Amino acid sequence: MTYQSQRTKILAYVAMMTTFIIILGLFPGIPIGFIPVPIVLQNMGIMMAGELLGPRYGFLSVTTFLLLVLAGLPLLSGGRGGASVFVSPSAGYIISWLFVPLIIGYLLKSFQAHQSWWVECLIVIIGGVIFVDILGVLWLSWQTGMPLGLALKSSLVFIPGDLIKVILSVTIIRQIRIRNAVVQHLN
Ligand code: BTN
Repeated sequence: MTYQSQRTKILAYVAMMTTFIIILGLFPGIPIGFIPVPIVLQNMGIMMAGELLGPRYGFLSVTTFLLLVLAGLPLLSGGRGGASVFVSPSAGYIISWLFVPLIIGYLLKSFQAHQSWWVECLIVIIGGVIFVDILGVLWLSWQTGMPLGLALKSSLVFIPGDLIKVILSVTIIRQIRIRNAVVQHLN
């Protein structure tokens, strides 16, 4: 395969990943009364971008998605978009998504983690759950005035669902990687 056709294929995967994140947004978020941040499916697509495309191309697909949201397209769960979501209570989570593919992608590369399902899950938990929650909770507490401890405790409600998303995403992406030579060398 020539360099040019390899690059075209990778960019097609970047576009597909952005589209997949947008499709996950068609599932409306589940509001949770005691914290103004919904349970969503879209964060699973963000994790997958880093797992499948590696740091650079994963970052490119998530950046494209967030720029479309910033431009006003209603692509976040429940059909929200525009600059205001970047200062809303969930803005810390949304902005953290930018860095998720970088963290997951570089950790996967450094530890050759795709060799083990468990290590790969652990890395996705670090980059896609713990990092996102820390940034999300810090912003939530600052923006709403909710005490930090309470914000942290409330955000634990996301953990069971997010762990299921980690298991699903790692299992699916490993299958795609086995079958697809183009993405194999990206991480
Ligand atoms: C948005 O306003 O659409 C962004 C929502 C951010 C939701 C965060 S992502 C991590 C955690 N897991 C969830 O299911 N929801 C929160």
